[in-house]
Amino acid sequence: MLGGGIPKGNTVLVSGGPGTGKSTLAMQFLYNGIAKFGEPGMYMSLEERPEDLVRNFSKYGWDLDKVEILSIVPTGKLSSNDLRRGRFTFRIGKGFREGTFSMDLIREIIRDKVQEIGAKRVVLDSISALALHLEDKFILRQEILATVHLLKELGTTSIITTETPEGQGGLSRFGVEEFVVEGVIGVYNIKLGSKRVRGIEILKMRGTKHSQNISLMEITDEGIIVYPEENLFSEG
Ligand SMILES: Nc1ncnc2c1ncn2[C@@H]1O[C@H](COP(=O)(O)OP(=O)(O)O)[C@@H](O)[C@H]1O
Ligand SMILES: [Mg+2]
Repeated sequence: MLGGGIPKGNTVLVSGGPGTGKSTLAMQFLYNGIAKFGEPGMYMSLEERPEDLVRNFSKYGWDLDKVEILSIVPTGKLSSNDLRRGRFTFRIGKGFREGTFSMDLIREIIRDKVQEIGAKRVVLDSISALALHLEDKFILRQEILATVHLLKELGTTSIITTETPEGQGGLSRFGVEEFVVEGVIGVYNIKLGSKRVRGIEILKMRGTKHSQNISLMEITDEGIIVYPEENLFSEG
């Protein structure tokens, strides 16, 4: 569908409803990076703990030892008071540190890790989770911009995921992200009669003559499979 993949250095938004396969697609991108191209990658989760990600994604037979998985999630160690003050646990590799949530800190961690491991691929999953931390929409947009600019500066090929409310067609949550990235991929889980089918489309990808199809996609025991020639909706 992309005519050879995501162009190097692009930052791509993967947008879709809950359970559409955004995290799976993002992790598969990192796994393939290591397994097929020897490109180190890092996954920054704002939603799930590293051990849960590893457990969930290992069932696809992916060896994730070489993917650097980081997360920023509240943990049981923190009191309600800590949480109210924005205290969070930052898991970095096998260790962790506590700190007060800030996008500055997240960007600092991404920058340090990318340089440390020589990452060529980066995933940030998801920016919708940022809305939990940042109420002010103006600040939120500025933070998203600054984060996309960091990824450009680092020169990594990157995926940022965003969750759109189910049933709504929109691509972005905050009205800025689809404009500042070089690519947008939509993933869908569509009700057709009494069952659901998965679809994927490339809405934007600078530097490629990409497919205009909404193609069939499956999540199987080996991960995501895309059928570029199978249109989700037959013509006419
Ligand atoms: N082995 C499997 N075979 C088929 N589908 C699976 C398998 N494992 C997980 N899934 C599907 O993948 C979905 C989770 O995808 P995920 O990437 O976490 O979605 P998102 O990040 O968009 O919320 C599950 O809801 C389930 O439908
Ligand atoms: Mg997810």
